[in-house]
Amino acid sequence: MAHSRTAVLVKPDGLQRGLIGEIISRFERKGLKLVGLKMVNMTDEMLSEWYVEHKDKSFFGELKQFMGSMPIVSMVWEGVDAIPVVRKLVGTTLGREAEAGSIRGDFGMSQQFNLIHASSSAEDAQREIDIVFDEDELIQYSGAMDGVIYADYELK
Ligand code: CMP
Repeated sequence: MAHSRTAVLVKPDGLQRGLIGEIISRFERKGLKLVGLKMVNMTDEMLSEWYVEHKDKSFFGELKQFMGSMPIVSMVWEGVDAIPVVRKLVGTTLGREAEAGSIRGDFGMSQQFNLIHASSSAEDAQREIDIVFDEDELIQYSGAMDGVIYADYELK
């Protein structure tokens, strides 16, 4: 089965709320593999590219200002169906309505301050990873636990 990669950002509110460890821990416990990690000050140019789908929205400027106001923590996680798996762990956009048990459902109340970003498609994941990471910053290694996280046929 195809192992895929997804991009995650812990947004400035997640950083200030001290949720980085909690968020990493949830993805680790699920069985996802961390292959990229760094702290970044996102420039306006990076954010314009990141949020290109929202460029005509009324909140575009505010969103970029917020996301560029402080460092974010960017990560790349890998696993079978990593993109939908991570989005489920993250929960829906509005914290007040996000499912209990999800990151936003457990820790957030806001729409803008929704703690975390997760890629929504394979194309978005690749584009987002390329904005933040150079190829040599993505680390290849075999997961020692893969054999108990997945059945053999799921690793092919
Ligand atoms: P996300 O879905 O990760 O990506 C787009 C982000 O825009 C979204 O999270 C929110 O943080 C933010 N957002 C969505 N709607 C609004 C809004 N009406 N006003 C300000 N920010 C918003």
